[in-house]
Amino acid sequence: MEKRLKKYIEMTEKRLYDIFPPEDIPQGKVIKASKYSLSAGGKRIRPVLVLAFCEMCGGDPEKAADAACALEYMHTCSLIHDDLPCMDNDDMRRGKPSCHKAFGETTAVLAGDALMILPFEMIASSREISPQAAVKCIAALAHCCGTEGMIGGQQIDTDPGSRPTDGETLLAMYSMKTSALIKAACLCGVYCAESGKEELYAQKASEFAENLGLAFQIIDDILDVTSSDEVLGKPVGSDEREDKNTYVRIYGIEKAEKAAAEYTEKALGALEAFDDSTFLKQLTEMLLERKK
Ligand code: IPE
Ligand code: IPE
Ligand code: MG
Ligand code: MG
Ligand code: MG
Repeated sequence: MEKRLKKYIEMTEKRLYDIFPPEDIPQGKVIKASKYSLSAGGKRIRPVLVLAFCEMCGGDPEKAADAACALEYMHTCSLIHDDLPCMDNDDMRRGKPSCHKAFGETTAVLAGDALMILPFEMIASSREISPQAAVKCIAALAHCCGTEGMIGGQQIDTDPGSRPTDGETLLAMYSMKTSALIKAACLCGVYCAESGKEELYAQKASEFAENLGLAFQIIDDILDVTSSDEVLGKPVGSDEREDKNTYVRIYGIEKAEKAAAEYTEKALGALEAFDDSTFLKQLTEMLLERKK
């Protein structure tokens, strides 16, 4: 498991910066800012999911390497924008000053924009997959990140007028802001494999991602209360300060831990549909126990 995780992360890191032009151009600052946030670290879970799903569906993971980078660009975009003063107003990310602290708000907005657009160029011009597979990846990514997905969830989360006050609407918001991008990652892996069994695989991948995403966000909420800035690499207590209603705030830590374990179980159940899901099962269990 550890070896395979390392392999997937290395496959991503190897080409993550190749698409950027040299920085000695008039607009170089936005390129520098994008690479700054990308290289600050992070667990690289979404690219790992792309590669693992591709391999689990019978594909060579190398086929999905461009899509894996694309998912990390989109995720990093979401973090840069999420930290802005007009959103969660957090000054630290991945153990370093947030993008807007290091480069100013204007450049941070633009770096986020750049990292939101780049995935589509990266997938559309990938030489590893067929045009049909590329179109499917692009459509899934765009849909999952749009107003019915990540952007929709971030809208509900950040607007005091629409913030959920009960568990059901809170989970619907988590499904959008967090599960949706994880779903895009898993679907890209399925499509890059070009297995011929996409319909079943896509359905099970979506079910897995939905539940993993809910568990992932609930644990993120727990860590916001129980961890430290040093361990997390981002400010703890951010949710409380911004008056966010989180699973922890509504139900308390104990019930939140129980819910995360239950969604993890559901995610594991969805993996039963695949032949060799050992790696993904171990990854899913590891994410439940994560400390950052
Ligand atoms: C943080 O995601 C944002 C959430 C959806 C909770 P990660 O916890 O995957 O952040 P990095 O990539 O490791 O920094
Ligand atoms: C993030 O949720 C969801 C995104 C789409 C970025 P949070 O606001 O809880 O993420 P962190 O805690 O800042 O990483
Ligand atoms: Mg947020
Ligand atoms: Mg935040
Ligand atoms: Mg959080």
